[in-house]
Amino acid sequence: MATAELAGKHLVLGMTGGIACYKIAELTRLLTKAGATVQVAMTEAATQFITPVTMQALSGHPVYTSQWDARIDNNMPHIDLSRTAQAIVIAPASADFLAKLAHGRADDLLSTLCLARDCPLLVVPAMNRQMWANPATQRNVAQLRADGVVVLGPDSGAQACGEIGDGRMLEPQATYEAIASFFQPKCIAGRRVLVTAGPTFEPIDPVRGLTNRSSGKMGFALARAAQQAGAEVRLIAGPVSLDTPWGVVREDVETAQQMYDAVMQSAADCDVFIAVAAVADWRVDQASADKIKKTADGRVPSLAFVENPDILATVAQLPDAPYCVGFAAESSELEAHAQEKRQRKGVPLLIGNLGPQTFGRDDNEVVLVDASGTTRLARMDKNALAAALIREIARRLPDASLIS
Ligand code: C5P
Repeated sequence: MATAELAGKHLVLGMTGGIACYKIAELTRLLTKAGATVQVAMTEAATQFITPVTMQALSGHPVYTSQWDARIDNNMPHIDLSRTAQAIVIAPASADFLAKLAHGRADDLLSTLCLARDCPLLVVPAMNRQMWANPATQRNVAQLRADGVVVLGPDSGAQACGEIGDGRMLEPQATYEAIASFFQPKCIAGRRVLVTAGPTFEPIDPVRGLTNRSSGKMGFALARAAQQAGAEVRLIAGPVSLDTPWGVVREDVETAQQMYDAVMQSAADCDVFIAVAAVADWRVDQASADKIKKTADGRVPSLAFVENPDILATVAQLPDAPYCVGFAAESSELEAHAQEKRQRKGVPLLIGNLGPQTFGRDDNEVVLVDASGTTRLARMDKNALAAALIREIARRLPDASLIS
């Protein structure tokens, strides 16, 4: 994500020996682009896979590889490097290094650094599937978890050795997302959040249909922000070309009716429902099973429409309804229209944005309208805005005081 969401964060990125070292070049780029200060430390084995020169160029800082480093004034890199860090991330974390960590060994710079740390430790395992499945590795990972170490991944799939299975390192973007998520305050921890996003597509015939210009970016950003803030998130998406946010369960639908059905399946099991999708108000009555052909006499077809169900209003009326949040894109008199829409839909909170010019943009400016009035948020990048909106939603939840 091209945001400065890790501005002010200082990380030690510890690399151990494994072919996944090549992924760390890209991870370093993502972390620094997001504003983090990245201090790389490598084991001797890691330097066999990628050079300290590459990692220095990408991180913008000298790379440490030895316990005996005269560049540090007091010659104690194992103490100095971790004292300014808010977290140590070991990526890739080899089976051998996990074993060392689990046993508290300290026989090189990186293991000593980890033992001497006073900040959280995150590990991103990368190894052959048999090494990962080996009871010794599983024992070590269980021990690390019990010691409070955060284990990210591993992924499953094709491995550099040619085998297929669990053990490959998370991709750089997924690793980045997991690290960014780790740093977010958990203001909505333990809540189940259901989000709709994107446009719907209403068929006219097998090759044509009606849709709208919603990009899905705001809904996806909200799903991501809710996940990062500790929620269990289910995202029901219309047709968009966006990656699923890390840790979010996604279901793809096309039509408003399919979105309605998918939401109704999950609505009873959620605490918060955020309806961001730009749902078509009408669908074509009796879409043609065959492609509608041009006629020789130039007659144009006419389409009859029927109304789609209002998903948000229906969920809001359920007995034991979740806390419902609606969105409204208005072109004028935003606050008045938003307040009217909030009451008509029967929802406690409505977020109004001055659309449709916000469709597809990476930033947005919104007002929050609830029973007590209007709150205006400054124009922000959609990810920052999504995080701010999740905080606003979290503090309005009926038993918000139960949440840290
Ligand atoms: O009535 P309008 O479409 O302006 O309302 C917008 C809000 O209602 C959004 O939160 C949208 O996701 C939701 N909505 C819905 N089902 C519809 C129409 C809108 O959930 N059929």
